[in-house]
Amino acid sequence: MILEQFRSGGCLSYLVGCERHGSAVIVDPEIALVDRYQAAAAQHGLRLHYLVDTHTHADHFSACRKLAGQLRLPVVMHRASPAPFVDIRVDDGECLIVGALRLQVLHTPGHTADSICLAVEDCVLTGDTLLIGATGRTDLPTGDAGLLYDSLFGRLLRLPPETRVYPAHNYRDQSSSTIGAERAGNPRLQVDGRDAFIALMDSLNLKAPDHLTEALRVNCSGGRSVAQLIAEAADQIAFMPIDEVYRRIAARDDASDALVVLDVRESDAYADGHIPGARHVPRGQLELRVDRVLPDPLQRIVVYCEYGKISTLATAMLRGIGFSRAIALDGGFSQWRSSGLPIESTPAEP
Ligand SMILES: [Fe+2]
Repeated sequence: MILEQFRSGGCLSYLVGCERHGSAVIVDPEIALVDRYQAAAAQHGLRLHYLVDTHTHADHFSACRKLAGQLRLPVVMHRASPAPFVDIRVDDGECLIVGALRLQVLHTPGHTADSICLAVEDCVLTGDTLLIGATGRTDLPTGDAGLLYDSLFGRLLRLPPETRVYPAHNYRDQSSSTIGAERAGNPRLQVDGRDAFIALMDSLNLKAPDHLTEALRVNCSGGRSVAQLIAEAADQIAFMPIDEVYRRIAARDDASDALVVLDVRESDAYADGHIPGARHVPRGQLELRVDRVLPDPLQRIVVYCEYGKISTLATAMLRGIGFSRAIALDGGFSQWRSSGLPIESTPAEP
C-alpha cells in the first residue's frame, strides 16, 4: 500500500494506492493542492479511481468537485452529505475496492452527521472524528457531542491499538498516531463517560473557522470559492509588471501602440489618486460602459484595481467579450503607491 500525506496549513489529505494494480484514491482533497495530487499519482504510477470527502468540511475548500470534473472520477461521501454532486453515497459497513485494497467505511457521526472514517490494512483515516491529541469539534452545523462519544468509544477506539491514525487536521506538524496512543494520551478521551465528554466539548468555546460560511456554501453546493474564481480568471489572461507599466506610460513614445491604463476601482478611490493618465470605469459598470470609453476592442489595455483581484476578474471578462489585448496589472494600486511611483489626482469621469 502507498499512503502519501499532503499538508495545506492545518489540513491533511491523502493519496492511498495499491502498487500492484496501480490504482489509487484521494481522500479529503484541498483545492490549493489539485496539481500536486495528480503529480503524485503520476509519480507513483497510479491511476485515480475515487475522490472521497470524509465529511462536509466547514474550514477549507474541498477539491472533490473540481477534480471530479477534470479527471472524470466519482465523488464518494456518506449518504447524509448534503452535497448534490456526490456520485457514490456510502454507509457504514460498505467498502471501496482500490486494486487489492479494501477501504472500509465506518460511519462516525459527531463532528458532522455525515462523518466517515476509512479503515485500510493497519491504518485508519479518521477525518475530523479523531485527531492527534484532540477530536473534531462538535459546535458547527450538524455536530453532536453525544454522537461523537458513541463514534469514538463505540467504534474507532475498538480498532486494534496498533492501528495507525491519519487525521484530516493537525496544526502541530504531527503526521500520524495510533489508536493505542490516542486512547492512552489524548486529553479528550480521558473522560468519565458520555455526559462528561459532552460537557467537555460544550466548554471548549472555539472560535468559528475562517471562511466558515463560504466553505459551507462551496462544499455543500459544489459552487466555487472566491479564490478559485480569481485563479480561474488568472489562468485566462496575461499580466504586466508594475515597473513595465510605469516605463511604458513614462515613455509614451509609441503612439500607434499606446497602452491604455484602465482603473476599475470606485470613483472616490480614483479621485483620491490614480496612475497618471488612467481612464476610469468602475468594475460594477464595466460591461455597460466599456464600449463608450474604449471603442477599439483591439486597443492594448492594462487593467488595475487596489489589490489585483478585481482587475484579474475584470480582465478575464474583457477578454471574454472581445477585448483580446486586455491584460491585468501584476499587483494593485496599493503596490504602485507604496513603490513611490507618480500618482495623479483628477476627478472621476461622470
Ligand atoms: Fe471538519
